[in-house]
Amino acid sequence: MKQKVTVVGAGNVGATAAQRLAEKELCDVVLVDVVEGVPQGKSLDLTEAAPIEKHDAHLTGTNGYEETAGSNIVIITAGIPRKPGMSRDDLISTNAGIMKSVTEQVVKHSPDSILIIVSNPLDAMCHVALDASGFPKNRVMGMAGVLDSARFRAFIAMELDVSVENTHAFVLGGHGDTMVPLPRFSTVAGIPITELMSKERIDALVKRTANGGAEIVSLLKTGSAYYAPASAAVEMAESILKDKKKILPCAAYLQGEYDCQDLFIGVPVKLGADGIEGVIEISLTDEEKVALKKSADSVQELKETLKKLA
Ligand code: LAC
Repeated sequence: MKQKVTVVGAGNVGATAAQRLAEKELCDVVLVDVVEGVPQGKSLDLTEAAPIEKHDAHLTGTNGYEETAGSNIVIITAGIPRKPGMSRDDLISTNAGIMKSVTEQVVKHSPDSILIIVSNPLDAMCHVALDASGFPKNRVMGMAGVLDSARFRAFIAMELDVSVENTHAFVLGGHGDTMVPLPRFSTVAGIPITELMSKERIDALVKRTANGGAEIVSLLKTGSAYYAPASAAVEMAESILKDKKKILPCAAYLQGEYDCQDLFIGVPVKLGADGIEGVIEISLTDEEKVALKKSADSVQELKETLKKLA
């Protein structure tokens, strides 16, 4: 393959992302983890599946960063996941240290890469990666809006018994309990769901979406979701690798857009070869503005916590 993507963290999200990248034949994949043998074992296992899955992507597993050199994209999933009863924010002190050291090693070997952050608390981890990398803001982004929107789309399709392919959904804000699903921009075959469902049902789906990560954590009991988070990260990577310029909701560093200053928050962006090629600003109702402000305030609080940890 011409292009190369490194996935840091060979846990469930990282290994599943590596699998999807290879099986879609998007790039060669380097899987990195601190645990000896695990990235090597998983990448060998995926390589042995390749003749059946019919792809020629090369997969490498390693505990170091030399093999990651020259990556176009680095997807960082490293960190601990939450346990039942924990919020994403409870992970901040452990994962901030991991994110800083991983980012420093990544940028040493791939100074021109684009970073897609997946570890939680997502928006705070994007701040750590931006600072530790010294990269321009278009090359550091967080995966979350695509995941949250996919969850909302799945629930809309289940509710209305229609194809998921007909659904579009819009979720703004931080990847936390204060995320802001926007029903008036969420559609089925172009029809806003506000035309298709009662307010009560929409409110229930919105609530389930905001609680989507915790719902999976409480079912799995050990660890958090990984199939959908991996799919979401790979959709972002694909848009960048193929320069598709898809409009996707991602955590982006805002400097004035949506009234947010120097803050990562989920907004619709255009993803192409240069990473974030633009932030799409839409006008919000007063109610939506209040919800987004609340979400931004909670990310701001995490930013303050990071300052205290540093
Ligand atoms: C979730 C985690 C990955 O939402 O944040 O499932």
